[in-house]
Amino acid sequence: MNDWYRPISGRFPRVSGSDQVVAVLESLRGVWDEDAVDEFDHACQSAALAVADGADDGLVLAAALHDVGHSPLLADGSRAHDVIARDWLAPRFGARVGWLAGAHVAAKRYLVATRPGYGQTLSAVSVASLACQGGAAADVEFARHPWWPDALRLRAYDDAAKQPGAPGIELDALIGIAERLAVAAGR
Ligand SMILES: [Fe+2]
Repeated sequence: MNDWYRPISGRFPRVSGSDQVVAVLESLRGVWDEDAVDEFDHACQSAALAVADGADDGLVLAAALHDVGHSPLLADGSRAHDVIARDWLAPRFGARVGWLAGAHVAAKRYLVATRPGYGQTLSAVSVASLACQGGAAADVEFARHPWWPDALRLRAYDDAAKQPGAPGIELDALIGIAERLAVAAGR
């Protein structure tokens, strides 16, 4: 058992980081933020698109877990789901994984503000949530960050990962990635 486990409101059993990844992913089955796919399929499709794009391990894991804030294991009603993702991922898999996942709402707001036509490509649910998230905005604090280009890549996977029946990453592959990142993060 890894000693870097951090309890979350007492709702997680004391398990390793990769087991936690499986637990939060499994908890997303039947969680519907979008109309077309549940959050489990959305997560696995996002990661598969990242792999197909040649993304590195950190970007693949961030793509898989960017919406983990919607998990009933983690949602607390007091923080936005992107903030929950960042706060949960960074201590386990490194600051970059947490930052990339935590930037996916900022990336949407930025692209709506700066890329003509982008807003018309969003799903109805994503358009509806945009207003609650503050609307279109080019936040320079994000946009000047060295990891920002990868945050925009993640956003593209996120937007595309809403196709019923589309392939998703195999859990074994994702677990391997999570374990490598946990080791690299010194966990
Ligand atoms: Fe998403």
